[in-house]
Amino acid sequence: MLNKHYLYIPGPTPVPPEVVAAMGQPMVGHRGDGFAKLHGEIVEKAKAVFQTDNDLFVLTTSGTGGLETAIANTVTPGDKVLALVTGNFGERFARLAATYGAELTRLESPAGTALDMEQVDEIWQARGPFKIVLATHNETSTGVTNDIAALGEYVARTDALLLVDAVSSMGAMDIRTDDWHVDIMVTGSQKALMLPPGLAIVSVSPKAWPIVETNGSPRFYLSLLEARKSFATKNTPWTPAVSLFYGLNASLDMILREGLANVFARHARMALATRAGAKALGFGLLADDAIASHTVTAIVPDKVINAGDLLKMLSQDMNVTIAGGQGELKGKILRIGHMGYCSELDVIMVIAALEMALYKAGMAIELGSGVKAAEQALF
Ligand SMILES: Cc1ncc(COP(=O)(O)O)c(C=O)c1O
Repeated sequence: MLNKHYLYIPGPTPVPPEVVAAMGQPMVGHRGDGFAKLHGEIVEKAKAVFQTDNDLFVLTTSGTGGLETAIANTVTPGDKVLALVTGNFGERFARLAATYGAELTRLESPAGTALDMEQVDEIWQARGPFKIVLATHNETSTGVTNDIAALGEYVARTDALLLVDAVSSMGAMDIRTDDWHVDIMVTGSQKALMLPPGLAIVSVSPKAWPIVETNGSPRFYLSLLEARKSFATKNTPWTPAVSLFYGLNASLDMILREGLANVFARHARMALATRAGAKALGFGLLADDAIASHTVTAIVPDKVINAGDLLKMLSQDMNVTIAGGQGELKGKILRIGHMGYCSELDVIMVIAALEMALYKAGMAIELGSGVKAAEQALF
């Protein structure tokens, strides 16, 4: 078989040649003027994508490191934290807060559903006030997007800080950090930002800084105070992943050149086509249209065909990699990532691959039916 791979997992995602080329530039000293200039420019471009005027830091760590940065700098043991858990990554954020000694209240939504503001209000009345609220913008494990605008409006009326995981949606979906009153927004490099894994980006609001400054948890590598001090001279406190910074500069250029509105529209259309194609092939959709993610689609295989077998066929016969379910959804769903360096034609291709796999498995599939539905969704 041709050694060509088709990557459709919700991160890491394909890296564009322009970004690969940028990362191949010769190494430079990270304390020199050249790096400082690059760092300053990257931060300004990232702020445009975050739609924020808040302070913003590029950290050499994975997305989880970004989440830990948010927690380690705001949660003092014993603090009351409300964790809005809509899936595996919401659960990770909650566990992180518990690890730092939070007095945790969890509000869990069933898999495939979004957070419910009425329930948030009920729990606030019953168990609040909280010092920190944790939410996931795009729950990668279920393909659900939460309404952070509504949550932000609610939390902004209180003294609490809102910490949001946008690891799998920043750079793909319309995320208005400032308008939505998000105090700490976190993303990672290997998703819609089209880079290899290794960077996290974190923005910090003026409301959050006094909490960060007086926080009682130990922190060193992930200290936002150190990051802020170093950024005063466009430095980083520790050696940054210089090559990834080059790549980030190129990928942010690509996003801003395409235009944020166009990037968001492309992702919305890819999600639409994926959903239409999957439905036409007989798959169920875990999330309703109104809350469906634009970057990852969770599909539920017909009972006749097993999710694991389908994954294997795609991978072994066609070099196509999609993702399975996580936690309680393992073996029950498949997840198709369509973010970053991904086009409408790319999603037609993954639908074609699924279609051929089902056909080969002997299912009563009319060849072309999934592709046709996906294409029709685009017109
Ligand atoms: C929503 C979300 N949060 C956090 C993470 C964790 O990021 P990382 O694997 O880079 O640590 C991921 C990664 O898949 C994610 O999708």
